Amino acid sequence: MTPIEFNRRIEDIPAYPAAETYANDGELVKLASNEAPWGPLEAVQEAAARALTTLNRYPDPDKTLMRRRIAERCDMAPGRVAVGNGSCEILLAAAEAMLEPGAEIVYAWPSFSMYPHLAAMSGARGVRVPLDAESRHDLEAMAAEVNHATRIVLICNPNNPTATAIAPDAIDALLTDLPRHVAVILDEAYVKFSLAQDPDESLDLLRRHSNLVVLRTFSKVYGLCGLRAGYALGSEQFRLAVDRVRQPFSVNTPAQAAAAEAIRHQDEVARRVELTAVERLHVESELAERGLETTDSQANFSWVALGEERDEAEIVSGLAALGVIVRAGSALGEEGRLRVTYGTRAENDRFLSALDELL
Ligand SMILES: Cc1ncc(COP(=O)(O)O)c(C=O)c1O
Repeated sequence: MTPIEFNRRIEDIPAYPAAETYANDGELVKLASNEAPWGPLEAVQEAAARALTTLNRYPDPDKTLMRRRIAERCDMAPGRVAVGNGSCEILLAAAEAMLEPGAEIVYAWPSFSMYPHLAAMSGARGVRVPLDAESRHDLEAMAAEVNHATRIVLICNPNNPTATAIAPDAIDALLTDLPRHVAVILDEAYVKFSLAQDPDESLDLLRRHSNLVVLRTFSKVYGLCGLRAGYALGSEQFRLAVDRVRQPFSVNTPAQAAAAEAIRHQDEVARRVELTAVERLHVESELAERGLETTDSQANFSWVALGEERDEAEIVSGLAALGVIVRAGSALGEEGRLRVTYGTRAENDRFLSALDELL
């Protein structure tokens, strides 16, 4: 039988490395996807539930309330707020709108596993720049890769999977040096967890650099990854371009309602950030006591070096057998590592005692 034919580019698009969570039964400690261990706030659940009664109608294609609430919170014009079915959708739309064969995109590596998709799906050249010795973005080396063909420089801050952060001042300096035709997409999925910067500092950068796009998500500190909602702050031109390449109804009604409500609860965000910082300290000091090194995390997860004598695959599958799901470094770009999300104290202690059984 003659097979149906596909776009040749799909051969270059890597398969997303799904967590083992879904393949395992029973009660699991899920520390593989950098999710929040807390459910959505009651007010957020109620907003989503109210939206269920209108599901016979299409969602608002302008996402009016959600964009207005984000704009108010960020002190930006709503016209500069693009929202998406998760921030990943905006990333992919940016590739669709900005990249093509002959164009280039520069990003650090290891970094978020979606980034290689942007070049692969668009036919552009992806330029990977290794992180520095401290597993941080090497902005100088990234700037050196920029040329007339570069359309996007992607910066993940704090970086997934290494959890490290760079200072907004360094990003400001990069933006000042780069030619204006290059868009800098600053992916701040984890910025709320950072104690190294005030998240509003990046919003100040937006006021100074018209080629900056700041990408944020409701999937992490807001705990809404199951609904899929994210946003980008940038120029109005950027919003119009990413809206043009997507279907108008990609953000469903409960997701719009929940996100619009969630962003009003900054007191809860602050509480979650504090809880995360406490767990970070706990997990990192316990790992250090076991002789395991971690990078300087400013996120809701640790990047753990296992050392030469330990086998990463054995530890990941051993943990899974004990009901604790974490990510193997090799699936994320660097062998001999674990990426482990912070859960509740009870979950983190289950991870640590499962690790003790294996080490
Ligand atoms: C760096 C980074 N950016 C973006 C996302 C995607 O988030 P969303 O759920 O908004 O698509 C993630 C999710 O893990 C991430 O790690």
